[in-house]
Amino acid sequence: MADLSLEQTLGRAELREMKGIPLTTATYSIWDQVRKFKARPDDLLISTYAKAGTTWTQEIVDMIQQNGDVEKCRRATTYRRHPFLEWYIPEPSSLRYSGLELAEAMPSPRTMKTHLPVQLLPPSFWEQNCKIIYVARNPKDTLVSYYHFHRMNKAMPEPGTWEEFMEKFMTGKVLWGSWYDHVKGWWKAKDKHRILYLFYEDMKENPKQEIQKILKFLEKDLTEYVLNKILHNTSFEIMKENPMANYTKDFLGVMDHSLSPFMRKGVVSDWKNYFTVAQNKKFDEDYKKKMADTSLVFRTEL
Ligand code: A3P
Repeated sequence: MADLSLEQTLGRAELREMKGIPLTTATYSIWDQVRKFKARPDDLLISTYAKAGTTWTQEIVDMIQQNGDVEKCRRATTYRRHPFLEWYIPEPSSLRYSGLELAEAMPSPRTMKTHLPVQLLPPSFWEQNCKIIYVARNPKDTLVSYYHFHRMNKAMPEPGTWEEFMEKFMTGKVLWGSWYDHVKGWWKAKDKHRILYLFYEDMKENPKQEIQKILKFLEKDLTEYVLNKILHNTSFEIMKENPMANYTKDFLGVMDHSLSPFMRKGVVSDWKNYFTVAQNKKFDEDYKKKMADTSLVFRTEL
């Protein structure tokens, strides 16, 4: 019998540019509502370019908010605990998702997620002076992670070959647009707004210190015991086995974890297993040009 799996009904995403930024056609179709989203002053937003460690940060933030109560953090999947603002899947009904509807129905204080570049953020977040945590990851590991994510997630566009995907990433022809502009745009915005700008590499190197930065930003104080509990439960090894954090309960038939698990490797420098010497040279030269106008510095190894 033919396999009427959901991936056939959902299909690969098509992209359409909103002010030069490729978004899914579904997000594009509700753009007016996204733009008019009403943020509340006590909203917390976790903003990232895709694959920067969003889910990890979401788990840390939730554990802090729940004072380290693991059971409470398992009340729902990451995807539903924190509305993914611009994400919209109208059908099939089994996969329906509207980040906007989820957010609007959620009592305050809310924590939400977005991958929008700074210039596309709904203006009410600035007007309400909301706190925002931005996480950035070095482009080489982001690229590798994004490539595997495209392979395993049928809700993303076809990645093409590794070589082709690298080209698309470097030219910004991927969902959510140019990584370079994204990290630079949010970096600039942090000087004017309440933004805590974190790096995936720092989180790997010293997770306790970075969790403490988040605690301070959220004006929370927890005991050493709870802090250690958060550290343990947000480690890659524990999160990989946590069905409420590893995306095995959402996107059934859409994410194929046998192709590449969502919780893939969780390391710094995996890019070395993918970039050829020539590709690395080309990437570095291009990077230098694109990042000449920023003080941002990334570490591609620890
Ligand atoms: P890899 O594909 O390199 O393994 P996002 O949540 O923004 O989509 O990012 C996903 C990336 O973060 C994946 O990277 C995933 O493995 C990694 N990740 C998720 N949880 C992590 C954790 N607790 N520690 C380290 N990396 C984590």
